[in-house]
Amino acid sequence: MPMTLPYLRLGINVDHVATVRNARGGDYPCPVRAAQLAKDAGADGITAHLREDRRHIRDADIRRLRQEVDLPLNFEMAATAEMRDIALETLPHAVCLVPEKREELTTEGGLDVRGQHNAVAPIVRVLADAGIRVSLFVEADPDQLRAAADIGAAVVELHSGSYCDAPVAEQPALLRRLQDAAALTAELGLECHVGHGLTYDTVGPIAAIPQAVELNIGHFLIGEAMFVGLGPAIQKMRVAMDAGRALALSQAGRA
Ligand code: PXP
Repeated sequence: MPMTLPYLRLGINVDHVATVRNARGGDYPCPVRAAQLAKDAGADGITAHLREDRRHIRDADIRRLRQEVDLPLNFEMAATAEMRDIALETLPHAVCLVPEKREELTTEGGLDVRGQHNAVAPIVRVLADAGIRVSLFVEADPDQLRAAADIGAAVVELHSGSYCDAPVAEQPALLRRLQDAAALTAELGLECHVGHGLTYDTVGPIAAIPQAVELNIGHFLIGEAMFVGLGPAIQKMRVAMDAGRALALSQAGRA
């Protein structure tokens, strides 16, 4: 029997459409319109991060993305009471809990699920009880994965930033770490997503990870959209993902 792999979903993060909009304080360009274009281009989901300081996505964007875009919404948020209440009111398809520091440029590092067990576990429980699929954004670290499984998360998103941003010579070791972590997610019964820093150049080996079922990609695609348009950028990413997945299958067939 030929080997098959699960379909690899592509979630588009529209935060940086809002970054450009907020540079002038008005309503243009609109992240909801970007999400609709992403759907037309074949995206499988929309991701948006409502940060504590509202530096890009605003509360109204989250409500509109939920109500007006016919794709699953993955609501990224810090594990705080304020964000928990917004999630319970909005009821997105999924929540991804991320660490957040006001001074950071982007989400630096994964959530310390082990160290913050007492803060994270009750939020995971209340969101899951509301029917929301809860994901934890973590480093490719076995202890963090075990802690995620222990507190009942359904999903982990592995942080691919270190791999994507590393010098080429250092990438194989960092990729291996992600591959090993993905294999562990399967043993622990966790669904495996991957995200952060992905580009056309780095997505292939990540798409080839057999346990991965969703990639979340934002900054690079919104940047590319300035040059080629959002639809073509997303379609090209889809092609790169499919090529990575196909290579994994052919290598498995030859093994
Ligand atoms: N996944 C998570 C959990 C993130 O925090 C981010 C960045 O907001 C992304 C994916 C997307 O990363 P990038 O914008 O670098 O593609």
